[in-house]
Amino acid sequence: MSETGYQSDTLQDFTPEPTEARRVVVLISGSGSNLQALIDAQEHDELGGEIVAVVSNQPDAYGLKRARDAGIDAVALPHREYESREAFDGALIKVIERHEPDLVVLAGFMRILTPRFVQRFLGRMLNIHPSLLPAYQGLHTHARALADGVASHGCSVHFVTEELDGGPVALQAEVAIAPDETEDSLKAKVQAREHLIFPIAVRWFLEGRLKLAGDAASMDGTPLPSSGMRLSHADAAEELDEDAEE
Ligand code: GRF
Repeated sequence: MSETGYQSDTLQDFTPEPTEARRVVVLISGSGSNLQALIDAQEHDELGGEIVAVVSNQPDAYGLKRARDAGIDAVALPHREYESREAFDGALIKVIERHEPDLVVLAGFMRILTPRFVQRFLGRMLNIHPSLLPAYQGLHTHARALADGVASHGCSVHFVTEELDGGPVALQAEVAIAPDETEDSLKAKVQAREHLIFPIAVRWFLEGRLKLAGDAASMDGTPLPSSGMRLSHADAAEELDEDAEE
């Protein structure tokens, strides 16, 4: 630099500001195995952003330990300490916004959300659900699928809207139900697929490829069908080396 402090700026000298990492807040209620899949993806530089906080409405959720072990801000916000759903969601909004997220991820967050909460994060909130939506919204999805004798089941990543488990689907992974399937074996196969597709959907969102566009999800500007993109049983099994285990 010259003594006058003047520096000639050539293009070669120009160093762009590094783009700030996209920020993710993850909400959990329990074990946090999906959170772990997201943490693992981040550690392999495959998440497309950084998990800046994990918030649980259950103070003893194991997922909070997973967050702390990964050096992530872990916040317990017990819903029982609030007198109404509105009051809890208001407090939750404050905690989340303090972390200025680009994306809010629901990873086993077992709370029904108020419309105010959903509107606040509309278009930047993803959930994972253990069924091929729109089939089996709600709870006990594996038992219900088995009781119905359906041939295939799976999981879905979807944008969160005011309809419980009803927002536009981005990505699904399918499981072919085996003749000797039990609820436990089915749950294990579905969860393995959850851990496979959730980090991918998060990355696509953070890269600006996956968006909520009106009533549908869109990928690279193209609206997706109501079932989103779908990974077949065969492709998922291959990714997970499932057939090698049998
Ligand atoms: C997952 O099965 C997910 O589909 C559902 O809740 C469960 C959370 O599991 N929404 P974990 O806490 O990620 O292990």
